Amino acid sequence: MSESRTKVKKVLPPATALYPLPAVLVSCAGEVEGVRRDNLITLAWTGVACAEPPMVAIAVRPSRFSHGLIARSGEFVVNVPSSGMSRAVDLCGNVSGRRRDKFALAGLTRAPARVVSAPVVAECPLALECRVRHTYRAGSHDLFVGEVVAVQADEDVVDPRDKIDVARLDPLCYGGGVYWRLGSRLGTYGYSRE
Ligand SMILES: Cc1cc2nc3c(=O)[nH]c(=O)nc-3n(C[C@H](O)[C@H](O)[C@H](O)COP(=O)(O)O)c2cc1C
Repeated sequence: MSESRTKVKKVLPPATALYPLPAVLVSCAGEVEGVRRDNLITLAWTGVACAEPPMVAIAVRPSRFSHGLIARSGEFVVNVPSSGMSRAVDLCGNVSGRRRDKFALAGLTRAPARVVSAPVVAECPLALECRVRHTYRAGSHDLFVGEVVAVQADEDVVDPRDKIDVARLDPLCYGGGVYWRLGSRLGTYGYSRE
């Protein structure tokens, strides 16, 4: 049944060696010195945390401008970019929004969210609007666990049963300091039992 041969393992220092990761654009908003600001932060450390209620987690360093906006507003949006958006994603992960408008810088468009006050990135085919339910201070990063309170998806990435078509979504992946796109289909859930 084994499909890969075993090899001699090299023991490496403990590290977050988990690949691939999604590269997402998280949008957030809030008041800073009496002025309403919104912002984008590129994150790769994100994942699903729970099904009922639907929850996702994001790991954000407290030094990020976005951290304060998310902590104070209790809201964020996980915008899932397609693979063609890697340049904008890289830009939003290498410039701080403290003094810059990253929407303008990256040529991205604000669109209204359905439930939260942070904007959605119109160019991203999928957006998960979240309300922070838990904050876990893990060490270098804080883990914000957000309940997904609304989902917006481009019509062309949704199948007739309202499921996300991952091939059409063509999500941007990240690993080893490199941006990637998904490869070929290998099988569907449960295919091994057939
Ligand atoms: C591909 C990529 C992945 C990143 N992942 C994370 C992450 O998971 N957590 C984090 O705190 N910063 C991450 N960063 C760094 C932030 O995106 C970066 O520091 C950004 O400029 C912070 O913006 P802000 O100060 O406007 O919030 C990542 C950057 C890149 C390019």
